[in-house]
Amino acid sequence: MKDPKLRELDERAFLRRLNPILRVYAAAMRPPEDQLPGRNTIMARHARHPRFRALVAEEPARLPGRAGRIAGFCYGFRGCGGQWWHDVVYRELERLGGPEHADRWMADSFEVAELHVRPDAQGRGLGRALLTAACEGREEATVVLSTLDLDPESPARRLYRSVGLTDLFTGFAFPGGGPPYAVMGGALPLAAYRPASSSS
Ligand SMILES: CC(C)(COP(=O)(O)OP(=O)(O)OC[C@H]1O[C@@H](n2cnc3c(N)ncnc32)[C@H](O)[C@@H]1OP(=O)(O)O)[C@@H](O)C(=O)NCCC(=O)NCCS
Repeated sequence: MKDPKLRELDERAFLRRLNPILRVYAAAMRPPEDQLPGRNTIMARHARHPRFRALVAEEPARLPGRAGRIAGFCYGFRGCGGQWWHDVVYRELERLGGPEHADRWMADSFEVAELHVRPDAQGRGLGRALLTAACEGREEATVVLSTLDLDPESPARRLYRSVGLTDLFTGFAFPGGGPPYAVMGGALPLAAYRPASSSS
């Protein structure tokens, strides 16, 4: 694999490349095949959220004028009331710490909805580069996201901790079923990188 370069995609370019982006998602997350059409619909909806920003890590094109293969991607947007994830997380934070606590994290938040790197490209700094670039220069005060809560030392949990994100709550079952999630948050700009400390 040649060195991938980061490229920002606007909403239209993101939608045009949704199929290869979904293939990266499928390779990284290995969801049941029948969940992919629904994921496609959700990602297409996300692209219309306010201040949407998407980045891909793209390998050099093999043919002139063609797009290169996508090794990883990250996208997010401004969180607002009326968005499903935002409202669910807001309610849980409010339940745990009251409305001020929920507002502190969610009232002016950049929500990172997806970050995935193809398995054969993992462990080479692409995930960190994508996350850092997505959060760079954002106007929001906080960054919030959810990630699988099966292993507190997973690459994703360690990556997020290394730039200052902490657990807002863990073991959370989003409505509709599925595995437990940790919701994590941090201040923007991201903290300077520190090697991930253990969570225990
Ligand atoms: C999580 C993910 C995006 C990280 O991308 P990546 O390109 O592999 O990560 P990087 O090489 O940039 O490493 C960044 C940090 O992640 C952590 N990390 C990466 N690989 C790791 C591993 N195998 N074990 C433990 N920590 C690891 C480390 O903290 C690392 O920082 P360090 O190298 O300074 O120790 C990628 O592993 C992935 O797509 N995983 C599957 C899907 C997923 O979990 N997505 C996140 C959903 S919220």
